[in-house]
Amino acid sequence: MTTLTRAPLAPLLDRLFDEAAAASPETSPAVTELAPEERARLMRSKTEYLDLYGRLKDLPLPVSRETGALLYMLARSCRARTIIEFGTSFGISTLHLAAALRDNGGGRLITTEFEPTKVVRARKNLTEGGLMDLVEIREGDALQTLGADLPEMVDLMLLDGAKALYPEILTLVEERLRPGALIIADNADYNPDYLARVRAPGNGYMSVPFAEEVELSMRID
Ligand SMILES: C[S@@+](CC[C@H](N)C(=O)[O-])C[C@H]1O[C@@H](n2cnc3c(N)ncnc32)[C@H](O)[C@@H]1O
Repeated sequence: MTTLTRAPLAPLLDRLFDEAAAASPETSPAVTELAPEERARLMRSKTEYLDLYGRLKDLPLPVSRETGALLYMLARSCRARTIIEFGTSFGISTLHLAAALRDNGGGRLITTEFEPTKVVRARKNLTEGGLMDLVEIREGDALQTLGADLPEMVDLMLLDGAKALYPEILTLVEERLRPGALIIADNADYNPDYLARVRAPGNGYMSVPFAEEVELSMRID
């Protein structure tokens, strides 16, 4: 058994994923009242992400169950001790990553979220999961909260906030990524510039599309 597969975390995740399925963006008026083109435009906007995610503030929008399990496995297999997460929401991905830190023997996870009500929910879930001691939630825009006071070395990073900002967030953390560090970017196909950067030979990464929604990259040097 692992922290992920035993109580209190396993039943908590079952409940949170069930609740997320019942509050899917596909059926939420906050999303369905947007024309598909407008939704796609907002997802790619570098200036209107506050408006978009403000509309979505009551939705958990978690990674899939499979991506959650993948996050746990990757963090375990690279023996991560320091993790950065962009986009906390209700903390479902955070719970997977923090569980891996626990089973790796401890560490530090910095996650960031600008919606105050989501920060409250994430803190509650992490406390219920018994993992809050490993997590620092930085409330505010990641462009500021990840702009200072980062760990010397970062073993793994999850990008799951505003898709348009993936290149900027990578730039903020890049020099702290140790050789071999993993970067998991959810729904990165919304950001062709990010994909071009991590896939181009000579930019310091190896990168492949992995599973349906994930771009998995490794820092080479
Ligand atoms: C897709 S959800 C994250 C889901 C979460 N990783 C999980 O799997 O449980 C994206 C979250 O990022 C937050 N967000 C988007 N852009 C942000 C920014 N620039 N700074 C901080 N948080 C941001 C949104 O409010 C939203 O809650």
